[in-house]
Amino acid sequence: MILIDGKKAAAELREELRQEVSELKSKYSKVPGLTVILIGDLAPSQIYVRNKEKSAKEVGLKSEVIKYPDSVQEKTVLEKIQELNGDENVSGILVQLPLPKHIDKQKVIETIDPSKDVDGFHPMNVGNLSSGYESSVPCTPLGCYLLIKKIEPNLNGKKAVVVGRSNLNGKPMTQLLLKENCTVTITHSKTKDLKAECLEADIIVAAVGIPELVRGDWVKKDAIVIDVGINKTDKGLVGDVHFEEVSKNAKALTPVPGGVGPMTIACLLKNTIDCFKRSQI
Ligand code: GUN
Repeated sequence: MILIDGKKAAAELREELRQEVSELKSKYSKVPGLTVILIGDLAPSQIYVRNKEKSAKEVGLKSEVIKYPDSVQEKTVLEKIQELNGDENVSGILVQLPLPKHIDKQKVIETIDPSKDVDGFHPMNVGNLSSGYESSVPCTPLGCYLLIKKIEPNLNGKKAVVVGRSNLNGKPMTQLLLKENCTVTITHSKTKDLKAECLEADIIVAAVGIPELVRGDWVKKDAIVIDVGINKTDKGLVGDVHFEEVSKNAKALTPVPGGVGPMTIACLLKNTIDCFKRSQI
């Protein structure tokens, strides 16, 4: 069984990006810039944002974090986004989720200029991805996609099962696999026989947030299994896949932690650089 080392893959990707930033700097005499807006003081969000800032600086990007208290007015945030939209030193804008209840998430997402939407959450990017056009792609599914391609570069005709239909993971993951000519089944909480669906799959991507849902006898021999879940349980952090059982069957499997997680941030940096490059054309 191949244990997919997301930490290593992310470090390799960051190294490629660092070189690319250095080349862009020579060519354009400036570097791509990422601005993150963080509202409130939720501990996980603070940690994510700190890691994003650290990684951005590591590859040579300009990185800025704008912090607001929980009580900030929606209007203040929307006006700041508009200002960043017009700032040519800002290539990518990310507003860390979740947001306080009084702020309309969709309004925030739709205020970000689609060409600076490094999360790929803007309806314009969602639509472009599903139409097969160039777009920003949400960072976590993009990371999963890159890990799958490392194991199996040719996905033509493979049967993929995506467990979970969220806008953040399941739906964009489906689009990426479709683009690679997979036959994709998207499953969710109302799916009649999830085990039977998974047993058909050459590739399983589990992104439902249910601890250890995917069991050993759900997985065909030699399947590639990508675990997006991060669930806090009494036993500590576990994924959506029962690691021990599935590792006996799968051809390749991501661990939790150390699988998909590190790729997510590296892909955010990639998206920022891609937004910069598109803006220079
Ligand atoms: N919060 C948790 N994951 C994400 C993400 O991918 N993007 C944003 N903006 N917020 C998040």
